[in-house]
Amino acid sequence: MNFTALALAAAAVSLPFASAQHKITFSSAQGWIDDEKVWFYNFGPHSTPGTANGSTIALAPIWVPSYRKLKELLADEDLTNGTKAGNNIINAIPCDAGYSDLWKVNFVTVPATYPLNAFKSAADVLAAAANPSGVTINSTAATLMVNCPVVPFGSTAVDTSGSATATVPKYVNGWYKGAPVFYFDFGPVTTINTDPVYHISLANGTITDPGVFEGYSTPFWNLNIVTVPASVAGTDILRSQSEILATKYPINNTALVVNCPFAYASTTATPPSTSPTASTSTDPTATGMHSGADAVKTSVVVTLAMVGAVAFLFL
Ligand SMILES: *[C@@H]1O[C@H](CO)[C@@H](O)[C@H](O)[C@H]1NC(C)=O
Ligand SMILES: *[C@@H]1O[C@H](CO)[C@@H](O)[C@H](O)[C@H]1NC(C)=O
Ligand SMILES: *[C@@H]1O[C@H](CO)[C@@H](O)[C@H](O)[C@H]1NC(C)=O
Ligand SMILES: *[C@@H]1O[C@H](CO)[C@@H](O)[C@H](O)[C@H]1NC(C)=O
Ligand SMILES: *[C@@H]1O[C@H](CO)[C@@H](O)[C@H](O)[C@H]1NC(C)=O
Repeated sequence: MNFTALALAAAAVSLPFASAQHKITFSSAQGWIDDEKVWFYNFGPHSTPGTANGSTIALAPIWVPSYRKLKELLADEDLTNGTKAGNNIINAIPCDAGYSDLWKVNFVTVPATYPLNAFKSAADVLAAAANPSGVTINSTAATLMVNCPVVPFGSTAVDTSGSATATVPKYVNGWYKGAPVFYFDFGPVTTINTDPVYHISLANGTITDPGVFEGYSTPFWNLNIVTVPASVAGTDILRSQSEILATKYPINNTALVVNCPFAYASTTATPPSTSPTASTSTDPTATGMHSGADAVKTSVVVTLAMVGAVAFLFL
């Protein structure tokens, strides 16, 4: 099975939809890391690699409008002080060129004279900032990157680990080219470098065992396919990168980058997957478009590709 071809084929299927009928329940699945069980969500291979071999992930911009001055913004760790000037704004959704689930935060300072949600597109923001409007954009004040996969309207994330401390992301409303978009906010990521994840598969491409992760520094993984003999398939004995490498089974290092944030990992090496800064994008008072009729009517173009890709990765 050719995973790249599959992913690209899936990516070509891009359909608009205007209701919650395409919502997806993202349930966490069990994999392995360092011989320990780990539960992860799978948002598939929609992000653009930053390097041809998938060793890094590309960044896309997200604009965070606020009525507060930049200095106050930077001093306020959680930014939940009711001074957001509207939902956050993105300029790419899955299958758009350059799309990435990893967003570089651009702070937008908005004068109080602007109503809530005055800006609903990157073009709006950039046009205002280009004029003497008092709107300013600062992309360098903080090197804040956040993992926010765009999902179909009404989607949910469900942890299946049973852990009381599992990560369940916030569902957030944003704007994309004048239309509402919806994403999960998994909070800050500190590197663009990916870590490896391994599919254990038979030579005919059938995935037979839970995925094996290596590293705790990022939710973004470069996909490797390990071809195992039939005697090993389905035995669940490969539970760490070192065990996999020791077998010398053939490994195909694909260029794909998959977004699989952990819901729960037992080890303490897990970095915080949510933190106060995650709420840069979640101030409910600034959410101008809830799940009402308007949101449904004008709902976003998200892709069935997501369904296809998620179905073939790890399932
Ligand atoms: C490795 O995987 C890629 C992506 O699925 C595929 O295009 C390529 O043919 C595979 N290479 C080998 C040697 O199996
Ligand atoms: C991937 O590509 C980058 C730059 O193109 C290079 O620095 C890196 O060594 C490559 N990684 C692997 C595992 O080949
Ligand atoms: C919110 O921020 C404003 C501006 O910095 C400040 O005056 C106010 O006290 C803050 N409110 C709360 C509840 O922190
Ligand atoms: C952005 O903020 C940083 C830190 O406060 C400042 O040094 C820089 O000049 C600002 N850039 C713009 C374009 O305002
Ligand atoms: C691959 O082989 C396994 C074991 O024979 C079989 O169960 C599975 O259906 C095969 N998958 C495909 C895609 O042919």
